[in-house]
Parts: sequence; structure tokens; C-alpha cells
Amino acid sequence: MSEGRAEPGAERGGAGEGVSADRSEDTSEGRAGPGPEGGGAGEGVSADRSEDTRPVIARTREELRAARAALDDGDVAVVMTMGALHDGHATLIRTARITHAHVIVTIFLNPLQFGPGEDLSRYPRTFDADLAICTEAGVDLVFAPAPDVIYPDGDPGVRICAGPLGDVLEGQSRPGHFDGVLTVVAKLLHLTRCTSAYFGQKDAQQLLLVRRMCRDLDIPVRVVAVPTVREPDGLALSSRNAYLTASDREAARCLSVALRAGAAAATEGPSAIRRAARAVLVREPLVLVDYLVLVHPETLADVPEWHRGQALLAVAGKVGTTRLIDNLPVLVGPGGRALEIFPDV
Ligand code: PAJ
Repeated sequence: MSEGRAEPGAERGGAGEGVSADRSEDTSEGRAGPGPEGGGAGEGVSADRSEDTRPVIARTREELRAARAALDDGDVAVVMTMGALHDGHATLIRTARITHAHVIVTIFLNPLQFGPGEDLSRYPRTFDADLAICTEAGVDLVFAPAPDVIYPDGDPGVRICAGPLGDVLEGQSRPGHFDGVLTVVAKLLHLTRCTSAYFGQKDAQQLLLVRRMCRDLDIPVRVVAVPTVREPDGLALSSRNAYLTASDREAARCLSVALRAGAAAATEGPSAIRRAARAVLVREPLVLVDYLVLVHPETLADVPEWHRGQALLAVAGKVGTTRLIDNLPVLVGPGGRALEIFPDV
């Protein structure tokens, strides 16, 4: 919880400083000028955004409350992020814009989900560039609070427990990580009062746990999955790719190559899928594999050899000093292939 500093470029707006004031007075250099209408996939939701398409920025709970109240009631979507936005985040926003008149983006580097030896202090902070992406993608409201806005008493004490699904895969390597994720996601759902929330398939276990939390705790939010956005060579976009050296970057390709090789064996069954994926990974000495699994999409348990139907092929590994994850939903058995998301989950 030591991470008390605000994002670069942040100005703690005083309480009661209206939303409109923030929109008109913020002149930080990162602000894109009035841009093209909404941009991206905002078709059909032209709403009544003026030529000034810059999002309102809320830093405090008061500012968020005022800005949220200014949005029409009804269907408002949220895209939660930790900043350092890239086209994966932008795709979530554009997808949300297709069916929602209003989109809120949260930018909050959540200390609660980082372990002691993890990369919280070096995580990229690029607020001005993030804002330009939000402007381009047609975001209405950016909520970018400092840690003490979200955790006014420091350690929250009461947290959401992810349960057994939070103890495997990523949770095994990062104890407590998903408790931290779910706690902040629940708080942000309550604070933004959104009816839909968009999450990337890239973080499959997180997506599953957010879905389970909404279902198990009766949080009335529709959780929508968005397919993983990749570089042309297959590497999944990630804010952490910024840490990779040139040779790391080259080696990191093998994660998605392995997943594709596994999916190519999908008609043959689970052990053929695992074998094909592993064969790619063992050829890359610069990648220290943490896990490579083929698991049930809802229980995250290894699928048995007789399993047919949907399964999650997931990989995690360290490339240099950077831990990367990737996954591919696959259909195992007749007609076996890679899927973009799980249509039935
Ligand atoms: P962050 O890593 O910033 O990711 C924010 C959202 O973008 C997540 O839903 C993630 O799955 C999605 N995303 C990231 N890379 C993607 C890609 N290449 N293609 C598609 N979607 C992608 O995930 C978090 O932040 C945090 O844990 C958060 C949910 C914000 C809670 O702090």
C-alpha cells in the first residue's frame, strides 16, 4: 500500500469541482485536441457528444459521482484497466461502444493485487497517452483515482476471497493476487454503477473469477469477454511487453506459437495438444515456463484424456525478468480448433 503517488499528469481535483470544470480546464499536454467523432466502433451510438469528444476525468469519489450522474441512466459499460493502455484495452472500449451509449474507463494501478516481489514500482505509467487512446475510442468518463481514494484507510482489511479457483495457475504463482483483483473490481463496479463490464480473454482466469464473483455474490452486472488482441507475429498485447529486451521479445513469440501448435492438434485429444505445445516451448531456452496446461474452462482442472468439447490451453513463463501469460480457448475432438472466446461460458 506504499504506492501512494498519483499518476503522472494527475491533478487532485478539489471536491466539488464540477465535472464540466475538469473537462474545460484541464490543459495537460496529453490531452488530445478535439478529434474525430467518437472514433472506432462507436457506430450507432452517436449520442449527442459535441465536437469536444474528450472524456471527463474524475479523480475523486465526488467527481466520479457527479460525472456518473451526468451520464444518461440506463446502459453504461465499464472497462477496467491499470493504465499503460494498448490496442487490447482500446478494443475492449470499442467493443463496449458498439452496444452502449456510454463507456467509463477506470485507470487504477491496484496495489492490492501485486505481491511483495512483483513489478508494481516499475509498472509503466503513461497517463497522457492513455487519455489520448480513451479520447480516440470515444470514452465518456475516465476514473483515475489515487490509491488513497480507493483505499482511504490503507489496507482494506475486508477483502473478497477468490476461493479455490483463485489458488491455481496464476494464483499459485501469485498468492493473494485474485483476492486483490476481485476486491478492486467489486469496488469499481459499485462506484461506477455500471450494468456491463468488459474483460479480455487474455486474462482468462481473471475473466472467469469476475464472472463467478458476479454470479456467486449476486452482483447484477453482465460480464462480456473480448478476444485477445495480438501483435502480427502472435504475441498477445500486454502492458508488460514494454519490459522486454529485443532478444526477450523474439523469445516471447514462442508462447503464442506453442498455443497455436497445441490447437492444431485439437482433433487428436488432450495429450496430443499438450505434447504439441510443449514441443515448441522446450526449443526456446530463454523462456522459463511456469505452467502449460489444458484445463476445463470453468473448473480450471486438468481435462482427462477422454475430454471432448471446450478447454483452455494456458501458458505462463518468465522471459528475462518479465512474467508473461497467454491462452487459447480450444475445441477438443471432432472439428477441433482454436476458438476466440468460450461461446457457452
Ligand atoms: P490490465 O492488465 O490493464 O487489463 C485491463 C483489461 O484489458 C483486462 O480485462 C485484460 O484482460 C484486458 N486486456 C489486456 N491485454 C489484452 C489483450 N491483448 N487483448 C484483449 N484484452 C486485453 O487486468 C487488469 O488490468 C487488472 O487486473 C484489473 C481488472 C484492471 C483490476 O485491477
